[in-house]
Amino acid sequence: MGVVEVVAIAIWIMLPAYIPNNVAVLVGGGRPVDGGRTLGGSRVLGDGKTWRGTIGGIGAGIVVAGLLNLFQSTAETWFAVPSFPVLAALTLPTGALLGDMAASFAKRRLGRERGAAVPLVDQYDLVVGALGLTAIVASGWLIGVLTPWILVAILLLTPILHVTTNAIAYLLGLKDVPW
Ligand code: CTP
Ligand code: MG
Repeated sequence: MGVVEVVAIAIWIMLPAYIPNNVAVLVGGGRPVDGGRTLGGSRVLGDGKTWRGTIGGIGAGIVVAGLLNLFQSTAETWFAVPSFPVLAALTLPTGALLGDMAASFAKRRLGRERGAAVPLVDQYDLVVGALGLTAIVASGWLIGVLTPWILVAILLLTPILHVTTNAIAYLLGLKDVPW
């Protein structure tokens, strides 16, 4: 399998996990998930984690997995991309935003304000969350699709895509900070 195919499959597998963060930026706002509650003087999660962003983001990720399934048989003629079983279509987006929220929880415990950049954590929270939850709930599917090289591609591509999309969101005025 060539580099181009490995990269294409890595992006395909991760799209339902990447999209929720971007959609959350677009639709987020309103009631925070932590309801404004604090823990040890700091917010539990902060105003950056809202119900609208979470539900909209997960919904969008599920829709993306469904769309990829529709195109899978066509795409397969170029690259050996997998289709998403229902469980994976649910766990990739849900895990991504759970990972993002776990990172916010950790950042608040460390006294970092909403929007503070924590390199590596900001980029990999969604990967750990999405692949972690999928490994628990849809392990058979994940073991079948995630070859070591595809995992390497995911680990290399995610920070690049994260930095690029956040910079674009910042330039478009959708995000207050470019990370
Ligand atoms: N967002 C949301 N709900 C989520 C995740 C994100 O509403 N579950 C929206 C919020 O408007 C948030 C924006 O997307 O401000 C950017 O997300 P992110 O960078 O993850 O949040 P931060 O504002 O940086 O907050 P934190 O420091 O907690 O990561
Ligand atoms: Mg942030």
